[in-house]
Amino acid sequence: MSALAGKTAVVTGGGRGIGLATARALTALGARVTVFARTARELEAAVQEGAAALAVAGDVSREEDVARLAARHEGALGPCDVLVNCAGILERGLVEELSPAAWRAQLEVNLTGAFLCARAVVPGMKRRRAGRIVNVASISGTIGGDRASAYHASKWGLVGLTKCLAEELREHGVQCLAVSPGSVDTDMLKQTPFPPQLRPEEVAKVIAWCAGEAPAGMTGANVEVFG
Ligand SMILES: NC(=O)c1ccc[n+]([C@@H]2O[C@H](COP(=O)([O-])OP(=O)(O)OC[C@H]3O[C@@H](n4cnc5c(N)ncnc54)[C@H](OP(=O)(O)O)[C@@H]3O)[C@@H](O)[C@H]2O)c1
Repeated sequence: MSALAGKTAVVTGGGRGIGLATARALTALGARVTVFARTARELEAAVQEGAAALAVAGDVSREEDVARLAARHEGALGPCDVLVNCAGILERGLVEELSPAAWRAQLEVNLTGAFLCARAVVPGMKRRRAGRIVNVASISGTIGGDRASAYHASKWGLVGLTKCLAEELREHGVQCLAVSPGSVDTDMLKQTPFPPQLRPEEVAKVIAWCAGEAPAGMTGANVEVFG
């Protein structure tokens, strides 16, 4: 039996791209999944096709939306066993071209959003002495690059948050890992000059493995998936 059978999972950014592929993979392994993002139409389509059990629309960077996500998930599907922080945005531009608003938005969604979602589910995971958090970072969180400073900084931060959560949660039986893909064939990649190296389904398989079968001793690892 799959390690995810009968578990519940929240996938942020689950409306399309890597998040939708992850919802499909977790559901196929027997988990009951809530997908969360801003575009309700995409979330409802995910439920319609059977990729998820519940759709909750909202913004990961808004505390009240994240609180509503946690309450709706627990009310409908039960305590959250797995959190996949996959919501992300990218706005490219040289440092001197990037507006402070664009800088802040990328940090807020890509990094603070993951913090807020983790904060919402960690107390229950600690009480139950079980749970997994998988943060979808990026190769950009291990290297520098031009025209994407806010994105790179947010992903370096997300890898750091992953390692800190792993330290805080190890003794409570809860694991936290990062998955860092290279270029994946999604809408986000179309904003870049990079050719795709990976399909969302390939990355989703790794995320699902980290959420289920990966040994507990891997907590804190940043799993790179470059194709
Ligand atoms: N594609 C790549 O090459 C690549 C490589 C490495 C890492 N990643 C990471 O993988 C993750 C998924 O990216 P993707 O390529 O699948 O991009 P995508 O197709 O653009 O999907 C991004 C998802 O995040 C959601 N989202 C964005 N802002 C949000 C917010 N404020 N609140 C809630 N949800 C939000 C989007 O939905 P709404 O717009 O409806 O909110 C969408 O569901 C991101 O964290 C990205 O940084 C991607």
